[in-house]
Amino acid sequence: MKFGTSLMTLFGFCMLGSIFFTTAWAETHHHTFIVKETPCTRLCHTKNILTVNGQFPGPTIYARKGDTVIVNVINQGKKNITLHWHGVDLLRNPWSDGPEQITQCPIQPGANFTQQMHLIYEEGTLWWHAHSDFDLATVHGPLIIYPKQGTVYPFNKPHKEFTLILGEWWNKDVNKVLEEALQSGAEVQPSDANTINGQPGDFLPCSKNNTVKVHVEQGKTYLLRLINAALSNEFFFNIANHHLTVVGTDGSYTKPYATDLVFISPGQTMDVLIKANQHQNSSTPSRYYIAARPYIGNILVSYDANITTAILEYETNYTKISAPPLLSPLPAINDSDTVAIFSGGLRSLADKNHPIDVPQTINEHMYIVASLNIISCHNNSCKGPLGGRFAASLNNVSFETPQISILSAYYYSIPGVYTTDFPDNPSHYFNFTEDSNPTNYLTKKVTKVKMLNYNTTVEIVFQGTNIGPENHPMHLHGQSFYVVGRGSGNFDKKKDPLTYNLVDPPKENTVAVPKNGWATIRFRAVNPGVWYMHCHVDRHVSWGMNTVFITKNGKSADAKMLPPPNDMPPC
Ligand code: C2O
Ligand code: CU
Repeated sequence: MKFGTSLMTLFGFCMLGSIFFTTAWAETHHHTFIVKETPCTRLCHTKNILTVNGQFPGPTIYARKGDTVIVNVINQGKKNITLHWHGVDLLRNPWSDGPEQITQCPIQPGANFTQQMHLIYEEGTLWWHAHSDFDLATVHGPLIIYPKQGTVYPFNKPHKEFTLILGEWWNKDVNKVLEEALQSGAEVQPSDANTINGQPGDFLPCSKNNTVKVHVEQGKTYLLRLINAALSNEFFFNIANHHLTVVGTDGSYTKPYATDLVFISPGQTMDVLIKANQHQNSSTPSRYYIAARPYIGNILVSYDANITTAILEYETNYTKISAPPLLSPLPAINDSDTVAIFSGGLRSLADKNHPIDVPQTINEHMYIVASLNIISCHNNSCKGPLGGRFAASLNNVSFETPQISILSAYYYSIPGVYTTDFPDNPSHYFNFTEDSNPTNYLTKKVTKVKMLNYNTTVEIVFQGTNIGPENHPMHLHGQSFYVVGRGSGNFDKKKDPLTYNLVDPPKENTVAVPKNGWATIRFRAVNPGVWYMHCHVDRHVSWGMNTVFITKNGKSADAKMLPPPNDMPPC
């Protein structure tokens, strides 16, 4: 019972913590994650899903900043899998990062692999998930990182905390859904329900009895850890009649940000304070809907618009009035202005105890266009647009996943696996955000990576296009970045940099690049290794909206990649 023990121990420390220990010290937490098939019923349908330890959503990993977490992943399922620790900057250790064919070959059925993460930089909410095919639909869970021993939250200690994971459910086997789409070239069939902690909630068939309930006491403040683990959907999220205060995102603190609504993209997390200040007396409602509904930039496509709900329920010792929970309206499904306003309001906390380090001078400038494309098919026989197949690209390079992992090809100097000419600029310019985009924007599949010298400062301007219905939540492995600017339309090299926030931009690991706009990130490449960068919309990854950064070793011994562990899964 390794897993149970570390969890118990940690809760013990949380209660006694700062009173008894004054010096910072770190712990090591051991977990065993058994990946296996488990029967599961939602929306009146039962199917086998992949789980970790039979749980859906999967188990929570708890740690403190500075701790080490060691997870032995045992594959008792029928297919190849890998696991990834989303948002953990694994210093010098890409070997434990997880993306299939990028840093490792998959863990085969019957095999196991021990992954290690040292939590040096992050504090707040992150998560872990499968990084193979569409397995993340059910193989995911929270990774909660408390302040270092002897330090405290930069806000009053909440009474309690709870975690809500937004996700999507398909009645069909998710990997069949992927396989069918890749075979025919057509769009991936949308999910059948959106979910909160794996449950669709009150408004969907056969779901009402299992709607997630969060119990609160009047007058207390709670910390909500919100994670978007959906395969496609970005969400608007609110709690009826309750104000929200965002205090962190992607494992970094933000300036307290008061809002009635949160917008969250796949891959992102938000730490949110909620004051339970409703239900003042027995004649006022005691139940409030926690609700999320997708944001879709273009509603001409088919999508899953279902509202998923949980219930915030006040605990009382008198009989409550039996009214249905209150629901606050969510923005229109294509309300891009609300998305821009919410996202533009995030700022790093950037105080004395949480300093930031935004690169002010830049060595490598990149302008990366994220687009959907078409690959033509023989006799136009595919089921995508114009008889071709759907594809996606960065700077018109549609990434081809190699047979050997890029990390081993790099480390062992195996030639012919990738080339190092990923372009810094688009190969062809057009009016990226005009209404009538070229529908025949062709591309082809190749494996190109971008090399970075150690300690280089990098700026990437991501340019969204009008092709396709949604934002592209771009996620970088190995290092978080500062989101210094965003805007609508085509990026203007002269004017737009003047709007950058170089003082307290939010530190994130996933940035939602607006469908018809741009977003700029900056980071310093001080983590030697092989690091995946991709859109966190899973089908866009399958279509090629990804690339790899290789940060070379620096000169000193502590600026070099670590050697591989002995149990790396073989290819
Ligand atoms: Cu959340 Cu490459 O992953
Ligand atoms: Cu995308």
